[in-house]
Amino acid sequence: MNLIKPSVVAFALSMAAQVTYAQNLPPLKVGMMLPYSGTFAALGNAIDNGFQLYVKELGGKIGGREITYVKVDDESEPSKATDNINKLIKRDNVDVVIGTVHSGVAMAMAKVAKDTGTMLIIPNAGADAITGPLCAKNIFRSSFTNGQPGYAMGEVAAKKGYKTAMTITWKYAAGEESVKGFQESFEKGGGKILKELTLPFPGVEFQALLTEVAAAKPDVVYSFFAGGGAVKFVKDYAAAGLNKTIPLVGPGFLTDGTLEAQGESAQGMLTSLHYGDNLNTKRDNEFRLAYAKQYRLQPDVYAVQGYDAAQMLAIGLKATNGDITKKDEFAKAVTAAKIDSPRGPFTISRAHNPVQDFYLRQVVGKENKVIGIASKSLADAGRGCNLQ
Ligand code: PHB
Repeated sequence: MNLIKPSVVAFALSMAAQVTYAQNLPPLKVGMMLPYSGTFAALGNAIDNGFQLYVKELGGKIGGREITYVKVDDESEPSKATDNINKLIKRDNVDVVIGTVHSGVAMAMAKVAKDTGTMLIIPNAGADAITGPLCAKNIFRSSFTNGQPGYAMGEVAAKKGYKTAMTITWKYAAGEESVKGFQESFEKGGGKILKELTLPFPGVEFQALLTEVAAAKPDVVYSFFAGGGAVKFVKDYAAAGLNKTIPLVGPGFLTDGTLEAQGESAQGMLTSLHYGDNLNTKRDNEFRLAYAKQYRLQPDVYAVQGYDAAQMLAIGLKATNGDITKKDEFAKAVTAAKIDSPRGPFTISRAHNPVQDFYLRQVVGKENKVIGIASKSLADAGRGCNLQ
């Protein structure tokens, strides 16, 4: 007797048709627009590594399609960003763009993606505008908004009883928005910002600013730097002896992927971020082991964001059987998903930004050890984003 129900047969046939459809599609062309040189080079490479690790875990295919890569070094240079992404879209005909690290470059990319409808997944840059006025159904972020880790750290600083703070950062969207996030919660908690110090990106001439800090003696210094700049800043801060008297705190970028180079100068520092080195969950342990085996390197937050950008792409393409032009279905699937990230599961907000926990971390040896939760399920406001 045949016990197979007609509905089961229909389902199996439709699955087979979907697989055949995806197999008939040409390889998916992925444009990687990242900084492969300059102060953010290590960040770009980690994102690239993380993305490729997830693709490898899927057996080399996303949504049933083989992948080909076209890579562009964006040099963290906003003035070249529009040309760079236009070349990927118009000359190389990529299906999707993954990028980038620098907020100024990413804002130019988002404008082009919004105008052309090209799928864009941002694996780092936290510019508010991208999930605000520039938001679009074809633009997603696997990382954070700039104010989020700052806001989380401001709460921690106020709770610790610090009353006065100075801030130091590069003068561009990421630094300014990070400081704004810190200021908002620090002032809410009764703190006061004495002065906001800045220098142009990607400058590393910190001495004059450190002299000002030493003279003003705030209770705490909040600072946004990342990559090569973060290494130099944390070392200079310690070399000036300031770490002995005025605690230096920041978003976790200040100490992520940098501890090998910062050594003694970073010990004890408190930062806040959506990732840490000792989460010790099954998911993260498996990820860390796979990453270390593949690249002979320890992963950092950037590697996780690259890995999760690939996960988001895979979720969207699964729902559309590999057809990236079906933007509504793609967006519906990604915003309905719980993404199984090494950082911990997260969801995607209406404006396409992660809703996630921010950990409080402390540098111990070569690890950013998680010592608590700084902010639970923090969502960005998505101000000015008109997506329903
Ligand atoms: C940014 O420009 O948005 C940015 C760059 C590096 C980071 C974080 C944010 O680590």
